[in-house]
Amino acid sequence: MLFKRPDSSDNTYIMLNQCINSPFRYAGGKFYARKLILEHIPTHKYYIEPFAGGASVFFAKKKVLHNHLNDLDEELINVYKIIRDHPEELIFFLKRHSAVSRIPPDLIENVNVGDSLPATKELHSFFKKKFNPVNYLERAGRWFYLNRTSYSGIMNIQNMYWGYGDKYSMQPKNWAANIRRTSCKLQNVQLTSLDFEEVIDKAPSGSLLFVDPPYFNADQDKFYNCIFSREDHFRLEKCLRRNTHRLLIFITYDNTPEVKELYSWMTEIHDKEWNYCIQRTDDQKTKAPRKGTRYKGKEIFVLNYSSHDFGYKEVHQKKLMFA
Ligand SMILES: C[S@@+](CC[C@H](N)C(=O)[O-])C[C@H]1O[C@@H](n2cnc3c(N)ncnc32)[C@H](O)[C@@H]1O
Repeated sequence: MLFKRPDSSDNTYIMLNQCINSPFRYAGGKFYARKLILEHIPTHKYYIEPFAGGASVFFAKKKVLHNHLNDLDEELINVYKIIRDHPEELIFFLKRHSAVSRIPPDLIENVNVGDSLPATKELHSFFKKKFNPVNYLERAGRWFYLNRTSYSGIMNIQNMYWGYGDKYSMQPKNWAANIRRTSCKLQNVQLTSLDFEEVIDKAPSGSLLFVDPPYFNADQDKFYNCIFSREDHFRLEKCLRRNTHRLLIFITYDNTPEVKELYSWMTEIHDKEWNYCIQRTDDQKTKAPRKGTRYKGKEIFVLNYSSHDFGYKEVHQKKLMFA
């Protein structure tokens, strides 16, 4: 389907249901695992992410009849809502809009009116420490700027720091196109900021849930604004168990014996590994330039359905045969 926003300043027609990248950098995001995850997902009509974060999997897949993204973090959901409903206003906010601005003139002295705000350490620091948003749009604009210029997309203010590099980050001149295509994808998507339990208990029967909670064994309070306690992990397991008869459930978790034990009642548990790379401008302590560091993601995929029922094994075997 083709879609054109009536208020779009350019005349490009944009596909409404494209597979795209998440608009955000997001700590714990599943960007590098998204293809591996999609191989395990059966056909469905209702799709729900109770812990959406950067929603890498939702953006990488085709939309279905009903799509629902939820995250307890209200600031994050506010940005998604602004991108969905007011993309042009957000793009406008991220430009120098007049000679008189709430941004101190020395931070944007070389920027012409109408040009994108540049990605600089000074502006990052201004938005982080001094800028006081007065409405939902300004809250979203501040969040978006900080997210696109932060190391690893850590949005917890105490642990957020500058991490933009021209070579590996999305440049400000491309933010507008990113916001417009994200807005297209988010049309008719339900966006909520609720605790996971409410979302899962009320999910329509037959829905596919992609469940990506904060890790079981990691200091998650560093990354997110919502604290997820040990009790919350057990609460999640109970909630999924009482709904398992009526939902298709796919969970990703850190690979630990406790989680495997907790979910031993599910149909399949797969050990999975993938490579990823973290890029940063400089070492925050020594200020020395650094290249990207390679890591291995090691998680488990836990399913309450059999992936062989929808041909995962065959697809996989075929891939191996023809590799
Ligand atoms: C691992 S991240 C999700 C990453 C996401 N799949 C991606 O690709 O970017 C976990 C998310 O759970 C959210 N969260 C924490 N506690 C929650 C709760 N009680 N209910 C719903 N979401 C919660 C956090 O704000 C965070 O965004």
